[in-house]
Amino acid sequence: MASGKQPSATSAPRLGILLVGMGAISTTLVAGVEAIRQGQGRPFGSLTQLAVMTPPGTQQRVPLAEYLNLTSLDDLAFGGWDINPGNAYDMAVAAAVLDPVQLAAVKPVLEKIEPMPGIHDPQYLRRTEGRRIKPQTNKWEQAEALRADIRNFRKANNVEQVVVMWCGSTEVFLPAGPAHQSLKIFEAAMKENEPTIAPSMIYAYASLQEGCSFVNATPTLTVDMPVMIELAKAKGCPVSGKDLKTGQTLLKTILAPGIKQRMLGLAGWFSTNSLGNGDGATLDDPAAFRSKEESKLSALTHILQPELYPDLYGKVSHQVKINYYPPRGDNKESWDNIDVIGWLGYPMQIKINFLCRDSILAAPLLLDLALISAAAQRGGECGVLEWLGFYFKSPQTVHGRPEHDLGQQYQQLQQAFHRLAPKLAAQPVRA
Ligand SMILES: NC(=O)c1ccc[n+]([C@@H]2O[C@H](COP(=O)([O-])OP(=O)(O)OC[C@H]3O[C@@H](n4cnc5c(N)ncnc54)[C@H](O)[C@@H]3O)[C@@H](O)[C@H]2O)c1
Repeated sequence: MASGKQPSATSAPRLGILLVGMGAISTTLVAGVEAIRQGQGRPFGSLTQLAVMTPPGTQQRVPLAEYLNLTSLDDLAFGGWDINPGNAYDMAVAAAVLDPVQLAAVKPVLEKIEPMPGIHDPQYLRRTEGRRIKPQTNKWEQAEALRADIRNFRKANNVEQVVVMWCGSTEVFLPAGPAHQSLKIFEAAMKENEPTIAPSMIYAYASLQEGCSFVNATPTLTVDMPVMIELAKAKGCPVSGKDLKTGQTLLKTILAPGIKQRMLGLAGWFSTNSLGNGDGATLDDPAAFRSKEESKLSALTHILQPELYPDLYGKVSHQVKINYYPPRGDNKESWDNIDVIGWLGYPMQIKINFLCRDSILAAPLLLDLALISAAAQRGGECGVLEWLGFYFKSPQTVHGRPEHDLGQQYQQLQQAFHRLAPKLAAQPVRA
């Protein structure tokens, strides 16, 4: 049986996790890790805490955390930035994801985490004011200030490795442009305050320059930009993204491969969500929703391959809606209507009503991504970690189409674990 217990002896270095944006998903991660450390909850949803691996050529069953020599929960230090005031406890209370009694138990730890002032550009986030921000110098100087923050965090928390996770509000959609094509052009453009450089890119640039892995939990194209891939490789840092695969898209990428494997046809897939959290408020802005829509729509086409099966999937009407409905809070409700076509063309319908909890689904993914990215960096991997597609709605790739089928993604993940394990096991035990 898999146990939720951390391995007792680990040689993995202490790991710092810097969260950009201390909203619902970030505070649910930090509070959750502390609750688990206190024995107040189990890490359901997290492979790094619960999964068991069988090393090739053996019959053994080894906890994944041990197999990859992952940093234990006791050796994590959290910090971050936010453009709005409040410590992590205040923000967790405002997010209203966790039960107040559970939050009270972790309050002493959370209230010590005071986010650092962030960088804000109202052009990219139109519905949030930004009341705790760094001085509005040019973008280059903002990056320098973020780099100093990372160095100070590393020193103050005595952490050997740092992973930065972009968990800020979804920025307005912005495709790659001339300023994002190379490091040289990007750095010159930052000094000129180039408008097509979004805050998330400045965080990513600063993180990579400081040797940190970078995870993009949102739909924004931040580390998809060529400049970031160049920099990640130059600095030996893994990057991954984008947009955590939590609720409706998770179910879609479980179900659609089965429909296709059975060669059932599809006339349409109508998906609607109602949510009332901060993410829902941000996505009420059509320009921010455009980023989300891009990442939510792509999965089905990639799985169904209409170019190979035009009769079955050539005319699928795929629609995705997000409704900001405040009474739901973080407890998102999604509805899917799937119009399936069977033998001789007879139509059928599948209905799914998922009453989920957005940040409860997202937090274990963030934990896994931080621990695995750090391990991958220790194992010598850098650039885009395509094999982390399992965790994302819109998996980042370097060349070619991303894999969306959850089963295939799981296999890719396991192969990567087997590849990394021997490199990670060889490390000396920390004193
Ligand atoms: N909740 C989920 O299941 C889920 C799934 C996939 C992706 N996401 C994405 O994760 C992100 C966070 O979601 P959430 O529910 O925590 O949202 P949220 O609104 O609760 O939190 C976002 C936080 O980011 C801060 N912020 C915004 N811009 C910033 C900046 N430039 N610098 C520093 N801080 C900044 C905001 O002040 C806020 O505190 C969103 O982009 C969302 O689309 C969430």
